[in-house]
Amino acid sequence: MSARRVLPDLTIAPVREEDLPAILAIETTSFSAPWTEEMFRWELGQAGTSFAWVARQGDRVLGYLFTWVVAGECHINNVAVAPTSRGQGIGDALLRTGLTAALARGARTALLEVRASNHAAQALYARWGFAVAGRRRRYYSHPTEDALLMRCDDLAGALMRRGRDP
Ligand SMILES: CC(C)(COP(=O)(O)OP(=O)(O)OC[C@H]1O[C@@H](n2cnc3c(N)ncnc32)[C@H](O)[C@@H]1OP(=O)(O)O)[C@@H](O)C(=O)NCCC(=O)NCCS
Repeated sequence: MSARRVLPDLTIAPVREEDLPAILAIETTSFSAPWTEEMFRWELGQAGTSFAWVARQGDRVLGYLFTWVVAGECHINNVAVAPTSRGQGIGDALLRTGLTAALARGARTALLEVRASNHAAQALYARWGFAVAGRRRRYYSHPTEDALLMRCDDLAGALMRRGRDP
């Protein structure tokens, strides 16, 4: 795959409340243990800590990214792209926006948990300078599975390197 085929009219913007139905639809098709509407609403209520981004083509929501920025660290809490829109650079564009915003808010490092079997997401994170830093045994349910802890120890450097990519 090449991430250079990003949809030309794709926009990345902060999540609005009216995006939630479309976000929930993507969430339930993307995860075996999806977040609930209540969980998304709670995230959106954490002003100053939670920063959430949506990818839109026109009015259509195609993906989203939920992050926290706390104490110089960005935590990626949730990211997904609609199944029919994957492989077109949307996840990459969401991370570019979310990590750039986190850096501007003082984050120097970033981290996340990912299912050990989720190689697509791991490959996406590796592009942004994340490396495996640990393993949380039986972290996930439905099905039970280990999480890999992935960290990016130099967010500024990772963004600079990715910015130079063609
Ligand atoms: C992970 C996910 C968000 C990636 O979104 P996407 O828009 O399809 O990803 P992109 O098209 O931006 O791809 C960017 C890079 O990610 C990696 N990648 C994405 N999909 C991949 C796949 N199926 N296999 C291997 N690598 C993949 C590649 O490195 C790719 O770069 P390349 O195209 O130059 O090879 C998407 O697959 C998804 O929503 N999965 C279900 C939800 C999920 O697992 N979220 C992560 C939870 S931790």
